[in-house]
Amino acid sequence: MKEEIKRRTEAVWQIIEAYLPKEQGRTSEVIQAMNYSVNAGGKRLRPLLMSETYKLFGGNGTVIEPFMAAIEMIHTYSLVHDDLPAMDNDEYRRGKKTTWAQYGEAVAVLAGDALLNYAFETALTAFSCEGADAARVARALSILAKKAGIYGMIGGQDADIAAERAEEALELSQLLYIHEHKTAALIQASMMIGAVLAGACDEAVDIIEQAAYEIGIAFQIQDDILDVTSTFEELGKPIGSDEKNNKTTYVTLKGIDEASREQKELSAHAISRLEALGQKGFQNEFLTDLVKSLITRLK
Ligand code: IPE
Ligand code: IPE
Ligand code: MG
Ligand code: MG
Ligand code: MG
Repeated sequence: MKEEIKRRTEAVWQIIEAYLPKEQGRTSEVIQAMNYSVNAGGKRLRPLLMSETYKLFGGNGTVIEPFMAAIEMIHTYSLVHDDLPAMDNDEYRRGKKTTWAQYGEAVAVLAGDALLNYAFETALTAFSCEGADAARVARALSILAKKAGIYGMIGGQDADIAAERAEEALELSQLLYIHEHKTAALIQASMMIGAVLAGACDEAVDIIEQAAYEIGIAFQIQDDILDVTSTFEELGKPIGSDEKNNKTTYVTLKGIDEASREQKELSAHAISRLEALGQKGFQNEFLTDLVKSLITRLK
């Protein structure tokens, strides 16, 4: 399984690379910073989940590819801004200097903005992919826009920053709001876009949205755990970032053991939703195994 994840992740890398902007023209510094951030590494989890959900519903065209690049651009922009001194103030990401530490804050702000904008420039090219269904592409764009926006990832990041200033620890419902929006929303977008572009029915898209919610919360719980238990060498980003920033996390609220138990429980729910889809004839064993592998991820 590990080898297969590696192989498919490499294929995702190549697709993303093909859509990155060329380093030319007067704005080359911002383009350099965009490409630096995307090429710095990362698990490429969101585009992989997207293409595997596309396959789950029988998708086999190229229309998914610009969306795979677009979601990774949006995810990367969220990290570029998340690391800024005004936000989590972190100097390493994906084993390299963060974009602001490498290029300065002003260029990092612009590179984040540019990645967000370029993500939509890229996704829009899906209309001219061979065999593209315009209604599905339009729906996928709308999911992408919404899940990345004020009712999605940006909303979650805003609540996360506001919570740092709170005098008291958050309640679980507030933490879940943050995790749902800052993290699960882009995972939902990834999987829902895969489903929509493959022509899944509304009911199936809803099931995918719920499964991706659980995968997303579980993913952020594990991120919170690793922030305490891992090492810089393994993660490629500083550990202890949450404590430094006075964050309430799953770990501060429930302790490592309980956080870990709930992470496994959420993942199991998501897996059973995917398996139930399997009984309806939508099967992708690799996707289920990929979700299983996240439970024990170390980075
Ligand atoms: C980090 O995401 C931010 C979170 C939502 C926890 P990833 O852990 O997917 O980061 P990369 O893409 O692998 O660097
Ligand atoms: C960030 O959560 C989620 C987004 C960037 C939207 P974190 O702040 O916990 O992510 P890391 O730990 O810096 O990757
Ligand atoms: Mg953060
Ligand atoms: Mg952070
Ligand atoms: Mg974190």
